[in-house]
Amino acid sequence: MNVLVVGSGGREHALCWAIAGSALTDKLVCAPGNAGIAALARCVAVAATDLAGLLTLCRDEAIDFVVVGPEAPLVAGLADRLSAAGIKVFGPSAAAAAIEGSKVYCKELCRRHGIPTAPFRVFADATRARAYVRERGVPLVIKADGLVAGKGVVVAASEDEAVAAIKAMFGGQFGAAGQRVIVEDCLIGEEVSFIALVDGRHCLPLAAAQDHKRVGEGDRGPNTGGMGAYSPAQALTPALQGAVMDRIMRPAVAALAAAGRPFVGALYAGLMLTADGPQVLEFNARFGDPECQVILPRLRSDILPALIGASDGMLASVDLRWRSDAALCVVLASRGYPGNHARGEAIRNLAAAEALPDVLVFHAGTARREGRLVAEGGRVLGVTALAPTLRLAQRQAYAAVDLIDWPGGFCRRDIGWRALAVPER
Ligand code: AMP
Ligand code: GLY
Repeated sequence: MNVLVVGSGGREHALCWAIAGSALTDKLVCAPGNAGIAALARCVAVAATDLAGLLTLCRDEAIDFVVVGPEAPLVAGLADRLSAAGIKVFGPSAAAAAIEGSKVYCKELCRRHGIPTAPFRVFADATRARAYVRERGVPLVIKADGLVAGKGVVVAASEDEAVAAIKAMFGGQFGAAGQRVIVEDCLIGEEVSFIALVDGRHCLPLAAAQDHKRVGEGDRGPNTGGMGAYSPAQALTPALQGAVMDRIMRPAVAALAAAGRPFVGALYAGLMLTADGPQVLEFNARFGDPECQVILPRLRSDILPALIGASDGMLASVDLRWRSDAALCVVLASRGYPGNHARGEAIRNLAAAEALPDVLVFHAGTARREGRLVAEGGRVLGVTALAPTLRLAQRQAYAAVDLIDWPGGFCRRDIGWRALAVPER
């Protein structure tokens, strides 16, 4: 079958890597892709948000099945447009993707259905929001309602920080996405990413992963898209995993179906494991990145029949097998990320890193210019290693990172620290 993957990050490289290995794949196309994906798929320069361009591409390339990576085209209705054109798609409708596109929708859905999440209030003006901050007391978390590429959340330890965030959001920092603002209680605990394939009714969990959202070692500094990840997430014990399925994932899938917005695609719950049990920080309507770069390498089964099964409403008959190996991914980013960063610097010696056993290098912000591989984005590479233990995977991933010659890049040196701080089981 002819498959199109939409997107250009490390997540899409990992998806292309897995789909290219499927027995069902005849042709793999990626829009727009990146320099790494170009080794596996035909990359076509159509932006992930160019819905009309993607529909034309599907016709030109006789695409049978589309896998959508990022949230923006989903929220804009790409899956709806493809379905209307008779093209099979893995990814939710715009109505179902609202679970990520509107944090207010997500929080209210959780509240209505008793899905555990931090107590919150929604505000449409700064004065009332400020008054609530004073009444409730810090720490509090301030969130813009709409999609702002992961930048719309401020964890405020002081009243001044909370008030400044409210002012910035209502002042238009995020445009329309900041017209409504959530103020919620701050949860304490360890974060895990729980992703399930969903076919509208059934929910098939993937291996859990842990992300490292802060830019600095020891989880300090500003939030990023994710600086590294590992799987399995030991903090999520089998008992907790059962609780997440029973209290969070299945109720969310049922709630969306009952609202007339059946969810088809990858449903990602960002969870805080609190003393009172797992609580929802957010839902995303897609695979996580870099989580995808550690989850897919651990998958023994062919991913494509599972994605098609989700799209066909047939997940109940799909079973996934996993390797017992752990996977750990270190993200290399351009110096300055998540703020302003340079572009166009050459990256050398990648082949040496890729030649190490059980190492996969996924590209995110890379391009090829005059035959040279160059850094283009904020997050540029994801270096994943698989090994029998997480500690060995960490050692191998950093051994590969150290072979890459890219002076303008940086990474966190402590990916996996929370799991490795406790003695290995
Ligand atoms: P979100 O985009 O909602 O996942 O928020 C981004 C990050 O902010 C999360 O990964 C958490 O680290 C943090 N965060 C969000 N909500 C809360 C909360 N209620 N309590 C503590 N931290 C939070
Ligand atoms: N790694 C976080 C995310 O994909 O949203």
